[in-house]
Order: sequence, then C-alpha cells, then structure tokens
Amino acid sequence: MTIPKPKSMRRTRRSLLTRRVLLFLGGMALIEPVLRFIGFHIPRKPERIEVVQQLAPGKFTVTPHFILFAAETTAWAVSRKCTHLGCTLNYSENEDMLICPCHQSHFSPKGLVLKGPAEKPLAIYDVERRESAPFFIVTL
Ligand code: FES
Repeated sequence: MTIPKPKSMRRTRRSLLTRRVLLFLGGMALIEPVLRFIGFHIPRKPERIEVVQQLAPGKFTVTPHFILFAAETTAWAVSRKCTHLGCTLNYSENEDMLICPCHQSHFSPKGLVLKGPAEKPLAIYDVERRESAPFFIVTL
C-alpha cells in the first residue's frame, strides 16, 4: 500500500524539476558562446543564396554578405566581412580592390590581403553557375 504524498510535496518536486530544466537550458545557452570564445568552431548548416542576376564576364554584384565576380568561364564569391575586426568591406571598381572602411585594409578581388592591418585572406564561397535563373547559387 502506498501512501499518497501531501500536495505541498508535489509542488516541491515540480519546482525542483522546473529548476533543473531551466538550469539545463541556461547551461546550453552558455555553452555555445564559451566554445566560440575558446576557439572551438561549431559547424553551421550551409546557407544557399540564389543570385538571379546574369553577370557578363568581368562584372560583379554586391550583396550584404559577399561580392560575386564573374569571369569568362568561372565565378567566385568573396566575403564582405573583414578579417581584422569584422567590418563590412566595400568594393572599389576603379582600384579593383575591396577596402575596409574601419582601418583601411585592402584585399584583392580573390580575397588576398594587399594591405593590413588584416592578416588573413577573406573567405571564398562556393559558386554554382547555371544556364538559367537563378544564374548563380552561392553556398555560405
Ligand atoms: S576591421 Fe577591417 S581593417 Fe580593421
């Protein structure tokens, strides 16, 4: 024969369970920034961005995350995030380089560092070129 527990004791168990769940969720929310802080890279799901604009060879298009360049047979997308402190780069067509407005780092259209303080090259994204719209699919 089991003795039913008093109502106040059930509340205690419920509140204990709630606390454990909240503690678990709080811990999970803290793990990701801590892992990033210590340099652990958490792979994220690749994002596919369609570019519907057709580009003639030698032309480019600027998006919020990358600049897509088209050549005769190839195309490539270079990140707009500066590798120094993360500012958004602008492309100077006259100088044919990406320029950081924050500390004036310069990068080639292929993402190579031409002038610091940035030391690392820019991220280059995979580009799938197609015959019909969307003409380019960039995988971030
Ligand atoms: S953030 Fe680009 S050079 Fe500093």
